[in-house]
Amino acid sequence: MRNITKNSVVRQSAACLGATLLLAAFGFTATAQAAERTGKQVVEEVCAGCHATGVDGAPKIGDRAEWAKRASKGLSNLTQNAITGVRNMPAHGGQAKLSDVEMSRAVAYMVSDGHAVDTKKAYASPQTRSGEEIVRARCQDCHADGKNGAPKLGDIEAWKPRLSKGVEPLVKSAINGHNAMPARGGMADLSDAEMKSAVTYMVNQIAAPKK
Ligand code: HEC
Ligand code: HEC
Repeated sequence: MRNITKNSVVRQSAACLGATLLLAAFGFTATAQAAERTGKQVVEEVCAGCHATGVDGAPKIGDRAEWAKRASKGLSNLTQNAITGVRNMPAHGGQAKLSDVEMSRAVAYMVSDGHAVDTKKAYASPQTRSGEEIVRARCQDCHADGKNGAPKLGDIEAWKPRLSKGVEPLVKSAINGHNAMPARGGMADLSDAEMKSAVTYMVNQIAAPKK
């Protein structure tokens, strides 16, 4: 087995770099949980804004009957709706930076009226859109031409320094956004899994530039 350390990655040739990144991208596990907030924290900081009083028909915190009715199709269905948004419920409760783990914790907290134990596992969303679809639909608006300093697709010089710590921190950074990069690229309804696919696709353009 080839033993490629993260530091040596940047010294590989372009082709080699791409192959290594492919491995890195498929090998890494869900976003680290360490800094993730508890369900209680997320609900108090974000969701309570509407769910405490029932703004626009939001199911109220503490209304067990209403939550039980909505949860009848399963918790994962509710979590999915909370991530993508549904009717007057904005995607991620309007906070695109919230991770899938934080969203599932918050939903479980509200449904159980505060009794659910916080999950450590990332919610496994059924991944509906491929990385390529997402990049074409949104990310390339900035990343095709390098608008506002966005690293250009296929531009190894632009990506190399950013990749010095591997793909995982880039996924996190793209979820959170920074400078002119909006959280989740401005597509608030993307799940963490979809963000990972999109970033993986972008990074792989280094090895397989546009034909
Ligand atoms: C801006 C107001 C607002 C915020 C903030 C908000 N919600 Fe909602 N939420 C709503 C409304 C309105 C509905 C009812 C939508 C409907 O069923 O028509 C709703 C419904 C839901 C549902 C039920 C979805 C379903 O399929 O029945 C879940 C789960 C949910 N919200 C989770 C959350 C979580 C978790 C947060 C915090 C991260 C949050 N919401 C923050 C307004 C909000
Ligand atoms: C509105 C323009 C815009 C859109 C849309 C956009 N980006 Fe970006 N992106 C940027 C800019 C600008 C930067 C560079 C930010 C910086 O480092 O100063 C960036 C940086 C990044 C980085 C590198 C992050 C880092 O820490 O170095 C990744 C990964 C990324 N974007 C992924 C995405 C993905 C995935 C999408 C689509 C879901 C997307 N971007 C959509 C503008 C955009």
